[in-house]
Amino acid sequence: MAEIEYDAMGAHEAEAKAYFIEHWGSDSLIISAGDYHFDDLNGLVALEDGQVVGLLTYAVHGNAMAVVSLNSVRNGRGIGKELLALAEDMARGLGETKMMVSIMNDNMQALGFFQRQGYRMAKILRGSLDMARQRKPEIPLVGMDDIPLHDEVLLSKVLPQDAPLDIPPVPVTPESDD
Ligand SMILES: CC(C)(COP(=O)(O)OP(=O)(O)OC[C@H]1O[C@@H](n2cnc3c(N)ncnc32)[C@H](O)[C@@H]1OP(=O)(O)O)[C@@H](O)C(=O)NCCC(=O)NCCS
Repeated sequence: MAEIEYDAMGAHEAEAKAYFIEHWGSDSLIISAGDYHFDDLNGLVALEDGQVVGLLTYAVHGNAMAVVSLNSVRNGRGIGKELLALAEDMARGLGETKMMVSIMNDNMQALGFFQRQGYRMAKILRGSLDMARQRKPEIPLVGMDDIPLHDEVLLSKVLPQDAPLDIPPVPVTPESDD
C-alpha cells in the first residue's frame, strides 16, 4: 500500500476541483454556513501515488473555521482523521478558537466520525436543506438509507489553545530611595 501524503490544495487545484465535483455533483455547495464556490475555498488534499484520495475544504468565519467539505475514498485508513487534525492545527495557527461542521440529517457515518474526533452537537438546523433546495434544486429529496433530507446537524469543537508557559513570576524588588 502506497504511503498517503498530505499537502495544501493550492498545489493540486485542478485534481482537487475534479475530485470535489465528483463527490458533491457540482463546484458549489449551499450549506447553513454559507454558499461556497470551490474557487473561493482553501483546503488540504491527501494523495496516494499522486492521486487525490481525500479532500478537506474550509472557510474562516470570525473566530471559527468551518469545514465546508471532507471526503476520503480510502475509508478506514485514517485519512479523514488526519485531514481534520491538519485543518485544526492550521485553525489554531490562524488564531481561531473553534471548528464547525454541518452534516446532512442522513449522514450517520459522519456523525459518528466527527464525534470520535471530539466534535459535539451544537444545533439542529431544521428545514435548512428544504430551504437550500429552493435555490439549488439538485439537492436530493432522499439521502442514504432512503432517509428524507430536510435538516442539518451543526457540530462544533473548541480548539484547545497552547498552555501558557510555566514560568515562575519574577520577584520584584522595590527600588530603594538611596
Ligand atoms: C466521514 C469520512 C470523511 C471519514 O473519513 P475516513 O478516512 O473513512 O475516516 P478515518 O479512517 O480517518 O476514521 C478515523 C476515525 O473515525 C472513526 N470512525 C469512522 N467512521 C465512524 C463511524 N461511523 N462511527 C464512529 N467512528 C467512526 C474511526 O473508527 C476512526 O477512529 P479512531 O482512530 O479513533 O479509531 C468519510 O467516510 C467520507 O468521505 N464520507 C463521505 C463524505 C462525508 O460524509 N463527509 C462529511 C461531511 S462534509
